[in-house]
Amino acid sequence: MNWFYSLELNQVDLYMAQSKLVKDIYISKVLERSSFIEQQHVDNIAAQIKKFGGEPTMLGDIISPILGKTAGNITAAFGVTSLLKADIMLEKKAMSDYKDLIIKIGKDDELFSLLWSNLIDEDLHTSWFASKVEELESLH
Ligand SMILES: [Fe+2]
Ligand SMILES: [Fe+2]
Repeated sequence: MNWFYSLELNQVDLYMAQSKLVKDIYISKVLERSSFIEQQHVDNIAAQIKKFGGEPTMLGDIISPILGKTAGNITAAFGVTSLLKADIMLEKKAMSDYKDLIIKIGKDDELFSLLWSNLIDEDLHTSWFASKVEELESLH
């Protein structure tokens, strides 16, 4: 669970940083809103960890190992399309890990519905990012 806690926390920071950098107002607002939703995930995961007697622990930079580059790099050096593609990779990683955990814990549990909610949010993020990438790429 600390894995999700760390990933979600990394995404909060990443999306907030990206929203400040991206000039397109609509994309910027979507990233800001996504950051807010990831913060809700951080909070609901933290609550679950505490419920099971644990202490939410930040495992450090989770994003760089997944993407093979640092979050700062992606944000600064590449265009909006690459930035969104990197975000899609992260969301897909989160989704596949949520799915794995859902299968592991089984249903009829508070944690089960929470994991589902977070999973669906990530799916919605992914869809929006992907359709925006498609739109941007169709312009060239
Ligand atoms: Fe999330
Ligand atoms: Fe997400």
